[in-house]
Amino acid sequence: MLWKIVRRTNHLARFETATQAEPLGLGHAVLQARERIGDEPFAVLLPDDIFDSERPCIGQLLEVAVREEAPVVALMRVPRSEIPKYGIVEVEPLRDRVYRLSGMVEKPPIEQAPSDFAIMGRYVLTPDIFRLLAEGKRGAGGEIQLTDALLGLSRQRNMYGCEFEAVRYDLGDRVGFLTAQIGYGLKRPELADRLRAGSRR
Ligand code: G1P
Repeated sequence: MLWKIVRRTNHLARFETATQAEPLGLGHAVLQARERIGDEPFAVLLPDDIFDSERPCIGQLLEVAVREEAPVVALMRVPRSEIPKYGIVEVEPLRDRVYRLSGMVEKPPIEQAPSDFAIMGRYVLTPDIFRLLAEGKRGAGGEIQLTDALLGLSRQRNMYGCEFEAVRYDLGDRVGFLTAQIGYGLKRPELADRLRAGSRR
């Protein structure tokens, strides 16, 4: 029963909410969770980015974070034309799919991008990020950007990027939203045949 799957999530964790009273940026949104998180590492999952994979994307990042005892962001190569939509990182290859981050910039013009590696919406972070976020410096779009705080942190400690293995859907984009419906629909045996037949009619 589908409702059992939905209800199960309620028992996996204790959910609390923090509200961002004004839309001042992703960095500001993350800062709202400071009191609840306290002095522990934590994960950030942006719900408009979803990942279809055998091993959850955040789990892939966690493996690197535990091994390196450091913050880790999810990385994916993007076509040059999409660079201005994302936080773009400068990387030094470390080992298979793992990179050390040597710089990053939020939504750069194509010609100023340090690479084609974009940050996707999964992060394992450490509480020292809050101090930088609390400075409240405005960045791209006049917003308090998580990427800017991460850049500050990368000057103080090692940080890493994990090129995850997953199909990623961008729900913030209309075509991405539709593609996700179709992608997940095709994976369900009871839906796949009807979905394929429907598209031929
Ligand atoms: C946010 C981050 C950006 C990241 C993106 C991933 O941007 O600021 O660095 O690359 O999520 O989806 P937004 O999509 O909120 O504009």
